[in-house]
Amino acid sequence: MSKRVAVVTGGIGGLGTEICKTLARAGRTVIAADLGAREERIAQFRQDVDGLDVHFESGNVGDFDACGALVRKVEAERGPIDILVNAAGITRDGTLRKMERTDWDAVLNINLDGVFNMCRHVVDSMTTRGFGRVVNISSVNGQTGQFGQTNYSAAKAGMHGFTMALAREVARKGVTVNSVSPGYCETAMVMAVPEDVRTKIVEGVPVGRLGKPSEIARTVEFLTNDEAGFITGANIPVNGGLFMSF
Ligand code: CAA
Repeated sequence: MSKRVAVVTGGIGGLGTEICKTLARAGRTVIAADLGAREERIAQFRQDVDGLDVHFESGNVGDFDACGALVRKVEAERGPIDILVNAAGITRDGTLRKMERTDWDAVLNINLDGVFNMCRHVVDSMTTRGFGRVVNISSVNGQTGQFGQTNYSAAKAGMHGFTMALAREVARKGVTVNSVSPGYCETAMVMAVPEDVRTKIVEGVPVGRLGKPSEIARTVEFLTNDEAGFITGANIPVNGGLFMSF
C-alpha cells in the first residue's frame, strides 16, 4: 500500500507544526497548508521539518474556492487525501460589549467555515475510496465557554457539532470524523494571553502546567491510525483536567 497522504491546515502553527512532524514520523506524507506570504515563518517551518516527508502548500481555509484549488493540487501531485486535520485557528479575544463585527466574522470564517470549506472538497473522495480520517482541532473553550471568547467558543463548539453530524453521514464508508479539544498549550496563541490572566488559568489546571503541542499531536496520530476505525463522532479532551465530564 502506498503511503497515506495527510493534509494539516494551520500546518505551520503552534499545534500544526507538531502534528505534521508526528504524522510524518508515523509514516505519512504530510502537506502543511497555511497562509503564504510569510517568508521567514515558512523558512523556519521548513527547517523544523527538515528530513521529514512534510511539504508546504499555501492556502486560505476561509476561502472556499482556494480550498478546492489546494485539494486538487495536492491530489494531482501526491495522490488522494486520506487524512485531513483541520488545525487552522485564530483568536480575536474581547468581551462581547467590545467585540467588533469583524472580530466575530474573522474567527467564525477561519475556525468554523474553514472546516466546511476543506471537508466539502475532501470527503467525497474518501467515501468513494472507502477510507478517510478527519480530525477537527476544537478547544476546551468550546466545551466550557471562556470569558472574552464568544466568537472563539461559538466556533469551537460548532466544530464539534459539525464533527458529529459528518461522522454519521460517512460512518458506513470507512471514514471517521473526530474532534480533539486541547486545553491551554505552549503555543504563541496562548502566550498572547496577558500574563496575569494566563497564570490564573494555569493555576486552575489540575495537572498544573500548560500542555505540550506534542501531547495534542500524539492524540491526532492515534485517531488517524488505520486501526482507529471504530472511534467516530468523538471529542477527545487533552486539557490537563481543566474540564472533566462524562
Ligand atoms: N471572569 C470574570 N470576570 C472577569 C474575567 C473572568 N475570567 N476576566 C476579567 N473579568 C472582569 C474584570 O475584572 C473587569 O471587571 P470590572 O469591569 O468590574 O473591573 C472586567 O471583567 C473587564 O472587562 P473588559 O471588557 O474591560 O475586559 P478586558 O478588555 O480587560 O479584557 C480579555 C478582556 C481581553 C478577554 C481578557 O480577559 C483576556 O485576555 N482573557 C483571556 C481570554 C482567553 O483565555 N483566551 C484564550 C486564548 S488561547 C486559546 O483560545 C487556545 C485554546 O483553545 C485554549
